[in-house]
Amino acid sequence: MAAYLGVWISLALCMITVNFQYIDGQNAWQSEKKDAASKHLVTNLPGQPKVEFNQYAGYVTVHEEHGRALFYWFFEAALLKEEKPLVLWLNGGPGCSSVGYGATQEIGPFLVDGNGTDLIFNKYSWNQEANLLFVESPVGVGFSYSNTSSDYNMLGDNITASDTYTFLQNWLNRFPEYRRHDFYIAGESYAGKYVPELAELIYDLNNASTDTHINLKGFMVGNPETHDGHDLEGFVDYAWSHAIVSDETHRMIKKNCDFHPNDPWSDQNCRATLMEIEKQYNEIDIFSLYTPTCVHKNSSPANTMSEAKKTQIFNYYGTFQCLQSLVSRLHLIYKCGMASSIA
Ligand SMILES: *[C@@H]1O[C@H](CO)[C@@H](O)[C@H](O)[C@H]1NC(C)=O
Ligand SMILES: *[C@@H]1O[C@H](CO)[C@@H](O)[C@H](O)[C@H]1NC(C)=O
Ligand SMILES: *[C@@H]1O[C@H](CO)[C@@H](O)[C@H](O)[C@H]1NC(C)=O
Ligand SMILES: *[C@@H]1O[C@H](CO)[C@@H](O)[C@H](O)[C@H]1NC(C)=O
Repeated sequence: MAAYLGVWISLALCMITVNFQYIDGQNAWQSEKKDAASKHLVTNLPGQPKVEFNQYAGYVTVHEEHGRALFYWFFEAALLKEEKPLVLWLNGGPGCSSVGYGATQEIGPFLVDGNGTDLIFNKYSWNQEANLLFVESPVGVGFSYSNTSSDYNMLGDNITASDTYTFLQNWLNRFPEYRRHDFYIAGESYAGKYVPELAELIYDLNNASTDTHINLKGFMVGNPETHDGHDLEGFVDYAWSHAIVSDETHRMIKKNCDFHPNDPWSDQNCRATLMEIEKQYNEIDIFSLYTPTCVHKNSSPANTMSEAKKTQIFNYYGTFQCLQSLVSRLHLIYKCGMASSIA
């Protein structure tokens, strides 16, 4: 139970990984190096409302010999794109799709409708204020892949940061006008690690050459995973300061838990006292304490992605028509393996 709570907190906003199995390249990528941005222009997404900004999607190779490529989806700012910053968004997990979550359910301009057939315009999309770049990272997440299966055994924060850095360099070569823009990195949940790690790598490598300089201005993390001990202490204090648990319970937890090690869960007494918070959050939406949970009595808590929502997203993005319009210039044929996992 307590272990469940730990996983639940860190993965809370991060439930979907869409896995599409690559079948046949059909001379894809042949001219990738020469590809201009316009080759990745997305023009025919099924059921898409009409908008005034351009969107681009496709693959950027990050390791030639191994055949690793990251998938991105980029939305220009709705207005004055020349003046607006470039924002990279990363979902966490590890293993969560930035397309399946960030782009299509959270901050992107198109949300999937109730039947999974059309898109609805999201007027709160961040591309109202920024040029918005979603990247599926690392390989194995969402549409991103490697042709070398052993790559999947060495996944971790390091390869995630360095592949995303390589992605950025190659992407900026494809979209050179964005190199001079202010650049921000944002993400949630496990991206609490990805985001600063990438920022540090950019900072460390930025002096190497003016050609590869990235105009990094800052980063932002929401619901971030940082250090298990500190995260848990914040979680406990937040619950107490918002009257989720009583003073007595809070005192008990503080007495029993040592928040300094990276694994406070390993302590039996600490785990036992944390149960009370878990119990309360089964009744209340942890992300919206003061609103009703809006779920049926016997379904999962409001903060987990419902099966119905998952089906809608899969229905939409699993269609050949949709995939083809996202990666049409590459003439890929995908089989929707749907080896989806709850990250
Ligand atoms: C992966 O393999 C396919 C099939 O051989 C090839 O077309 C594609 O270019 C490879 N991907 C990368 C990133 O090299
Ligand atoms: C879903 O499809 C049904 C049947 O075509 C239609 O009546 C309904 O309005 C659709 N719902 C949404 C949310 O688009
Ligand atoms: C990740 O990179 C850091 C810095 O280069 C290094 O110290 C560390 O050993 C690496 N970790 C793994 C698991 O490769
Ligand atoms: C980059 O160059 C600036 C100016 O020379 C210097 O202040 C800074 O410490 C350098 N940063 C790194 C990471 O080398």
